[in-house]
Amino acid sequence: MTAMGEATEVERDRASALRASLNRANYLYYVAQSPELTDDEYDALFRELRRLEEEHPDLQTPDSPTQRVGAPPAAEFPEVAHGAPMLSLSNVFNREELEAWHRRAREFLEIDRFDMVCELKIDGLAVALLYEGGVLVRGATRGDGERGEDITANIRTIRSIPLRLTGDDVPPAMEVRGEVYFPLAAFERFNDEREAEGLPRYVNPRNAASGALRQLDSRATAERPLGAFVYSIWVAEGETPSTQWGALQALERWGFRLPATHERRAWAHVAGDLDAVEVAYRDAVEQRGGLDHGIDGVVIKIDDLRFRQRLGAVGREPRWATAWKFPPEQAVTTLLEIGVNVGRTGSLNPYAVLEPVFVGGVTVKQATLHNEEDINRKGIRPGMRVRVQRAGDVIPQVVGPADGEELPEDAEPYRIRDDCPECGVPVVRDETDAVVRCVNARCPAQAVRLLEHFAGRGAMDIEGMGEKLVRALFEEDLVKDVSDIFALKNRRSELVDMERMGEKSVDNLLAAIDAARTRPLARLLTGLGIVHVGSEIAELLAREVSGLDGFRALAGEGADGEVATEEALARLTAVEGIGPKIAASVLNWLSRPANQAVLAGLAARGVKPPPVMPRHDADLRLAGRRFVVTGRLEALSRAEAQGRIKELGGAVSSSVSRKTDYVVAGADPGSKRDAAERLGVQILDESEFLALLEDRDTVREPAS
Ligand code: IVH
Repeated sequence: MTAMGEATEVERDRASALRASLNRANYLYYVAQSPELTDDEYDALFRELRRLEEEHPDLQTPDSPTQRVGAPPAAEFPEVAHGAPMLSLSNVFNREELEAWHRRAREFLEIDRFDMVCELKIDGLAVALLYEGGVLVRGATRGDGERGEDITANIRTIRSIPLRLTGDDVPPAMEVRGEVYFPLAAFERFNDEREAEGLPRYVNPRNAASGALRQLDSRATAERPLGAFVYSIWVAEGETPSTQWGALQALERWGFRLPATHERRAWAHVAGDLDAVEVAYRDAVEQRGGLDHGIDGVVIKIDDLRFRQRLGAVGREPRWATAWKFPPEQAVTTLLEIGVNVGRTGSLNPYAVLEPVFVGGVTVKQATLHNEEDINRKGIRPGMRVRVQRAGDVIPQVVGPADGEELPEDAEPYRIRDDCPECGVPVVRDETDAVVRCVNARCPAQAVRLLEHFAGRGAMDIEGMGEKLVRALFEEDLVKDVSDIFALKNRRSELVDMERMGEKSVDNLLAAIDAARTRPLARLLTGLGIVHVGSEIAELLAREVSGLDGFRALAGEGADGEVATEEALARLTAVEGIGPKIAASVLNWLSRPANQAVLAGLAARGVKPPPVMPRHDADLRLAGRRFVVTGRLEALSRAEAQGRIKELGGAVSSSVSRKTDYVVAGADPGSKRDAAERLGVQILDESEFLALLEDRDTVREPAS
């Protein structure tokens, strides 16, 4: 037995040969599905490698198959800023909608035709895989699309994700995107085992995949039989194919597994026209039931990758691709009752209470019913058998009566009650959008719902301020509107006295509230619950106005002054993405004195979103410059830093190469700063970077 210590040349070569054999065996088994080694042979090689690595830890490399069994538990997943946002897809549900998508793209590009690639849409979780020098160095979740979680140790346990790529044309650095899924055959068994251990069952394979990927102990991930497909090369350095079809072929050559229908063959089609797309779609529908992974449609992508830049995206949905979704699954059950709840904008929203039924992979007990009209058009009433459907993440819907059920001819139309179920004040019927509203500005249900929304993850993200606490704070008269949240630090003793609160949780709450004072303006605006203003519109607004004060002043001095409103309307509708309906809603909200008081209260209580760069100046000072941002910055998050660079025309990549012009290094920068030093790339500290953003003249031109 050799003593611990540096490996000999012979041992080094042997370890490298073992890694290569095992990685290849792994590829043949999990990707190509044509194994050449027996399990025993594989195990023998694996044990030999593990022994060598144990004796000489310096032989252990990130691409070693021994890394697939999981690493000791992590305390948390570090955050990862994606080099380019992880987008989602628009949906079409029929040929007509597909044609409309196709027409828009043609018109946009001003061309008559283009090739398209049809791929399976895998129902799993998106992941971003970073390869440097052909070796997997990082795996991340999608997160909110801008930032995800670093789950590298867990990703390494997935056998169909190569640790090292093969081929001499692998780009020096690239990010590959794909989908991780939980195999259907293993799902039921896995759930049964969980139940036997007293653990809750996962509602569907997708949640099981998500649960597996988010294990802090990657040894637990390694025990779950996750699979993965990849479908695109994203950020890359070096030559990459110029078509999606070429990219798929390159990925396959390098050792990845492409979305597949049956076990061996990758499933993708090039289609020159929509008839060909439809043929591919029908084929996928047919194969749907026989696969070991969920698919929820076919993704159609324009083949020529050069068009992607030109086509861009609407919000998070690229114009260069769309998903033709499968029809949702349906089931029949009994409609027990029509309930009504009050939304944060005061809308009275009817919903169906159902006899629980399993559909689309989950048990459904409630479903939305949009409004009175919806219920009357469908002709449904409590007691009837109804058809229910659910597709993907979509909220379950009642489609209509089940076959053979019919409303009697003389049935009275359904009508939502005339008073608010929460505050009893008479409701108002808004004929334009068929919504019944409680317009009582003091309706407690609305107030609580708005507070919940404001504190929620999509908005100010105040940790610990969930539904129960919000309700309690409201009932105790500690918080009546959103600005009161920021005055809570003056009411510490009352907070401590509340049920189930203690010194510690109050401290935590107050700290979380403090942290929310500097959330980006877009999040604040999202949180206000202005009708039609979701996170995307809020982003646009935040860029348009300057700060919270700018937003307050948007409607003009005398908020109801005709001229000011005309001007403000014109200004808002000039923003791409904001139409007259949205603009009117914003100005209408601003014109209410109570809302102005809330904004004033927020400002007075120290809510101060950091400044946003307006986009319309089109200052492209950083055009042609490549940046890598690493380490922790003080004044802004990494994603914000990257966003600012892009706004100024610069490019952001995730790894340092000779082509990098600047590396922005915050605290604890790690290996990227070292790489910059090695390659002679100019390093900027945070203050130099801020100076560059603000165009202060303190930054040198990049070397070379
Ligand atoms: S393309 C443009 N291709 O579907 C950005 N996505 O609904 C979308 N997905 O987030 C990536 N299979 O997680 C693409 N063949 C495929 C896909 C696919 C599944 C997922 C992906 C994406 C989501 C969008």
